[in-house]
Amino acid sequence: MCGIVGYIGKKNAVPLLIEGLKALEYRGYDSSGISVIDKKEIKTTKASGKIINLIDKLFKKPLSGNIGIGHTRWATHGEPNEINAHPQQSKEVTIVHNGIIENVEEIEIFLGEKEYERKSQTDSELIAHLIDYFYNGSLLNACLKAVHILNGSFAVGVICKQEKKLIGIKYKSPLVVGIGDGENFIASDVAPLLPYTNKFLFLDDGEVTEIDENNIKIYDFQGNKIKRSVSVVDWTREQAEKGGYKHFMLKEIAEEGDAARNTLLGRIDDNLALQEELKWNTNFMDSINRIVIAACGTSYYAALIGRYILQNIAKIPTTAEIASEFRYENALLDKNTLFIVISQSGETADTLESLSYAKSQGIPTLSIVNVQGSSIARMSDYVLYTHAGPEVSVASTKAFTSQLAILYLFTLFLSRTKKTLNNQQLKDYTKELLKIPDKINETFEINLQKMQSIAPHYSQFKNYLYLGRGILYPIALEGALKLKEISYIHAEGYAAGEMKHGPIALIDKVTPSVFLIPPSSLLLNKTLSNMKEVNSRKGEIIAVTTDKFEKIEDASLVLTTPSTDLIFSPFLYIVPLQLFAYSIASYLGYDVDHPRNLAKSVTVE
Ligand code: G6P
Repeated sequence: MCGIVGYIGKKNAVPLLIEGLKALEYRGYDSSGISVIDKKEIKTTKASGKIINLIDKLFKKPLSGNIGIGHTRWATHGEPNEINAHPQQSKEVTIVHNGIIENVEEIEIFLGEKEYERKSQTDSELIAHLIDYFYNGSLLNACLKAVHILNGSFAVGVICKQEKKLIGIKYKSPLVVGIGDGENFIASDVAPLLPYTNKFLFLDDGEVTEIDENNIKIYDFQGNKIKRSVSVVDWTREQAEKGGYKHFMLKEIAEEGDAARNTLLGRIDDNLALQEELKWNTNFMDSINRIVIAACGTSYYAALIGRYILQNIAKIPTTAEIASEFRYENALLDKNTLFIVISQSGETADTLESLSYAKSQGIPTLSIVNVQGSSIARMSDYVLYTHAGPEVSVASTKAFTSQLAILYLFTLFLSRTKKTLNNQQLKDYTKELLKIPDKINETFEINLQKMQSIAPHYSQFKNYLYLGRGILYPIALEGALKLKEISYIHAEGYAAGEMKHGPIALIDKVTPSVFLIPPSSLLLNKTLSNMKEVNSRKGEIIAVTTDKFEKIEDASLVLTTPSTDLIFSPFLYIVPLQLFAYSIASYLGYDVDHPRNLAKSVTVE
C-alpha cells in the first residue's frame, strides 16, 4: 500500500514523478503529492483524492526541479486529506513513506524536547522530524541514525535542500532502485520505472541507498557498504499500458490465455524443465511428504486449487492456509514439509511473515511470484516466477490464471518424480494443459459479447450466492470475490453441498445464485440437484458450464466454456465470472481498476 517514486537527474522531475504515480496508483489512491528541489528550495504540491487532482493543481501552479519524490497514499494513520498526504516535511528534510511506524509515542517523546511541531496526524511525519533532528550536514548519516529509532515497516524516499542527493531506506516495505543513464530512480516496484529502464538494484531489508545522477551506493543500517548486482527485468513498457482497453482489468482478462502460455513456455515440453529451474535432486524430492501453501486474497484461492491437484494427482498431503491466520498459528512443520507461498506482488505483508515463520522452522520454502525481485521471491529458498507480465488492475485476474498454470506444472513435475502418474497419463495431462491457453482465449471471446446486454439486469441485485463443488469450489470463492471487490455487491462463495446448511435460507427472487456446473463427473448430478432446490424457491440462476444439459434450462443465464476435463475446468470457469463482475462494475460506472478502500499490494499487516 502507498506508492513511492523518486528521481534524480537532469530532466524536470515533475512529469516523471506524475507518470510514476499514475503507474503506482493501484497501491493506494486516497491522496498524492510531490516535492522537488528547485534552486535550493523544496517545493511541494499535494492533493486529496485521485492523482488527477494533483495534476490539476500542478497545471494551475507548475513546479520544476531535477530532484524529486512523489507518493500516492493508502491511509493508515490519519484521514485521507491534503495535510496527511505525503510528502511530509520537517525543517530541512522532506520524505515519502510506505509502511507503518509502530513506536510513534516513543519518537514523539524523543523529539519532544526539540520542539518539533506536528502538522499532520500521520506517523510518517515523525520520520521527517527524526531525520531532521539528526541532520548535521550529511543526509546519509542522518538517515543511518534515524533508522535505529524507527520500529515498524518503512520504505522511505528522502530529500533535503542542502544536498543534490536522493536517499532511499528499506525495511519490511518494498523499494527498488532504477538505473538510468545520467539519471537514477527509486520506486516501490519496477512498474513505474519501466519506461526509463529495465535495470534495477533490489534493496534488502535494513538497507539505505544514497543516489545522485551518476552513482548509487548501498549501505546496511550500520553504515557498511554493500555490493549488489544489477538485475535486468524482462517486462516491457507496453505491457504496463492500457493498449486501447477501457480498463486494465478488461485488458488483463483478455491477456489471460497469453499469460498462461508465457507461464508454461519452455517449461512444459520437457518434463525436466522445472527440475533444471529448481535444481532439486531426487533425494530432496523423495523427502517431501507434506506441502503447506499460504497466501492471501485471490492467491489463496489459487492455493486451494493447488491443494486439490497436489493431493489428487501428485498424492501429496497438502493444506492451503490463509497467510494472515497461519502466521499466528505456531504451526507444526517438520523437515519433510515443503512450504509454498503464492503472491502476485511478492510483497503482501502477511504472506511474507508466513514465509519468514516457515524459514525460522528450517524447512524448505518455495515461492510462486509474479513480480521479479520482490521481497517474497528473494526471501524464499526457491522461486518459480509466473511471468504473467505486470498486473495493474487491483482485482487480480491474469496473475491468478498464471498461478494456476504454475501449480499444474509443478503438480505434474512432482507426479512424474514420485511416479503417481504413468507415462501415458503424464502425456495426456500435459497435452490438455498445453491446450488450455487457447481454450482460455476462446472462453473470453464466447463470453465477452454477452456481457454488455446482461449488465443492466444483473447490476440491480444486492446479493449473490456463488456455488461450486470440489475443484470448482475455490472458483466460486474467487468469482464472488471479484464481484464484491469491484461492484460493491455482496456476494458469498459457498461449497454447493453446504447450501442446505444455511445459505438456502437466503434464496428468494432477489438473490441470484451462480452455479458452477462441473463437466460430466460424479459431481455433476449433485450440483444439478442443488440447482433444482434453488429453482423451486424461485431463486434466479446463472449457470457456468462446458456443456448444455436439459436441467440448465432452469437458468436465466448460461455462460459456457469450451469442453475440458473437470481437473482443468478452473482455468476456464473463472473467465466468465471475471467478465461478469467487470461488466456489472463498468455498467454501474465504478472505477474498476481502483476499487474503493482496496490496494493491490497490501504491505501492512
Ligand atoms: C490484495 C489485492 C488482491 C490480491 C491480494 C494478495 O488484496 O487486492 O487482488 O489477491 O492482495 O496479493 P498478492 O500480491 O500476495 O497475490
